[in-house]
Amino acid sequence: MSPPPSPLMLLPLLHLAAGSFAAGNAKATPPSAAAAAGAGAPAPVPTPWPEQFHAVVFTNLTESGGRLQLIDLYYDWPKGRNLNLIHSQLSGDPTYDVEWTNGTSYYFDSGSCRTVRFPVGLLPPDWLADGAVYLGREHVDGFDCHLWTKVDFIWYYEEVATGRPVRWNFFNGV
Ligand SMILES: *[C@@H]1O[C@H](CO)[C@@H](O)[C@H](O)[C@H]1NC(C)=O
Ligand SMILES: *[C@@H]1O[C@H](CO)[C@@H](O)[C@H](O)[C@H]1NC(C)=O
Repeated sequence: MSPPPSPLMLLPLLHLAAGSFAAGNAKATPPSAAAAAGAGAPAPVPTPWPEQFHAVVFTNLTESGGRLQLIDLYYDWPKGRNLNLIHSQLSGDPTYDVEWTNGTSYYFDSGSCRTVRFPVGLLPPDWLADGAVYLGREHVDGFDCHLWTKVDFIWYYEEVATGRPVRWNFFNGV
């Protein structure tokens, strides 16, 4: 498959990665998604991300041979950077994944560092708006959500009531 759409997509090369967002700590509150979904109503538009936010992402990669991870995600669009602080289960030493908007990412821990290039750079706050296909409403992780898919790669669930991300799944067809 083509290169991953973005470095912000955590561990994008894995066959299936499912991440759920928990306690977001947004500095700006996204506008509420329109709850209207009556017959003939236009498909809802994805809520843009705040320009800066902190989210806790629970990631379950066990199906593709990986492990459980708890990721503190610090997104900072104005300053062109994103930090994923990755805590793996039973591992004391977190991995830092710093992604810059120019496409350079650094993965490092206390003992090693490597550089990865993602030409696409950081996802802009409205990355989903262009080219997403609306698939309807679904109940997921206990929330009533709108569901969109984009390039048959990502499935993105957003809470209807607040417009906050609840879950995203990545599929990388091999
Ligand atoms: C992780 O995913 C696997 C496979 O889908 C599932 O069996 C397991 O219950 C999940 N674990 C957690 C903690 O969500
Ligand atoms: C991108 O920006 C980072 C942070 O300023 C810098 O370390 C890196 O060298 C830059 N990469 C390129 C290809 O310019």
